[in-house]
Amino acid sequence: MKVLVTGGAGYIGSVVTEELLNDGHETIVYDNLIKGHRDAVDRRAKFIEGDLMDGDTLRAALTDHHIEAVIHMAAHSLVGESVEKPAKYFANNFIAGLKLIDTMRDCGVGKLVFSSTAATYGEPEKQPIAETDPTQPTNPYGESKLAFERALHWYEQAYGLHYASLRYFNAAGASRQFGEQHDPETHLIPLVLQAATGQRDDVQIFGDDYPTRDGTCVRDYIHVIDLARAHIRALNILDERSAIYNLGCGGDGYTVKEVIDVAREVTGRDIGTRTVKRRAGDPAVLIASSDRIKHELGWSPKFQDLKLIVRSAWDWLQAHPRGYGE
Ligand SMILES: NC(=O)c1ccc[n+]([C@@H]2O[C@H](COP(=O)([O-])OP(=O)(O)OC[C@H]3O[C@@H](n4cnc5c(N)ncnc54)[C@H](O)[C@@H]3O)[C@@H](O)[C@H]2O)c1
Repeated sequence: MKVLVTGGAGYIGSVVTEELLNDGHETIVYDNLIKGHRDAVDRRAKFIEGDLMDGDTLRAALTDHHIEAVIHMAAHSLVGESVEKPAKYFANNFIAGLKLIDTMRDCGVGKLVFSSTAATYGEPEKQPIAETDPTQPTNPYGESKLAFERALHWYEQAYGLHYASLRYFNAAGASRQFGEQHDPETHLIPLVLQAATGQRDDVQIFGDDYPTRDGTCVRDYIHVIDLARAHIRALNILDERSAIYNLGCGGDGYTVKEVIDVAREVTGRDIGTRTVKRRAGDPAVLIASSDRIKHELGWSPKFQDLKLIVRSAWDWLQAHPRGYGE
């Protein structure tokens, strides 16, 4: 297929692009580099520097390359910032998203895979979370992603757009070439590894009095390559239908303290911790049920073991001590 990846210079987009190319898909990356890195774009891909709101550049990208499907990963994704600046999040994650699907409609492109998020569920009443559970986001980030999902539903009804909305839990790990480099970094595993290298003094633990096995929050981590493989599977349904899928590893998840212990073991380094008070809106446990995508698409995670996930992130960091270096 000829696939356009919006946000393909970002963390997950870089690995999705790499996996698409490995599978022989012609892949065009579309990114404004506001958060992404030029060096994170696989050399085999064509790169177009452009913003989702730049209709002319977007239209040319879709038509010049005869794009058949879009994987839409471009977004703002800092939960805390979204609470302070909801306008920024609705503008980029919802309005710019509409611009994309309207331009796709103009150009006759009718297939979309969308990076949605577990934040669409808010603070769920039960675990593991299934796609049929209520969606009640507790921050503008999750709300802006859910609003776009709702738009996709109505665009399907009226215009026949077929979409797969993938609600990711915590993406983690790296491929050999591409890894995680956000600024600011808010994700646990890269923060823990930064503490291992001495780039930061310690890791903050936000609350150790949750009703969990060691008092710290439990989360579901999914290797970025497993995530990328799920996107490619999802492309296959779009000839016929649309769907919403959760993507996590399931199981019992891992507590914050367990992640830190695994990182100590993998790196062989000391990692200092500091317990501070809970963050508002942090549920005790967030675990995905990925049964639907397993049954319908035959996807299952290959890197379920947290040690493999942390090891891949550590290997990437060792190979790229200054990150992408621009
Ligand atoms: N990282 C996670 O654990 C996680 C979890 C759930 C969902 N997601 C979603 O997955 C997607 C990718 O996440 P990531 O961690 O790789 O983020 P990232 O910030 O590394 O990548 C996003 C990319 O989108 C680009 N971008 C943003 N706005 C743009 C615009 N208007 N036009 C063109 N390019 C634009 C940025 O430059 C960046 O390269 C996001 O949509 C995010 O909401 C991520």
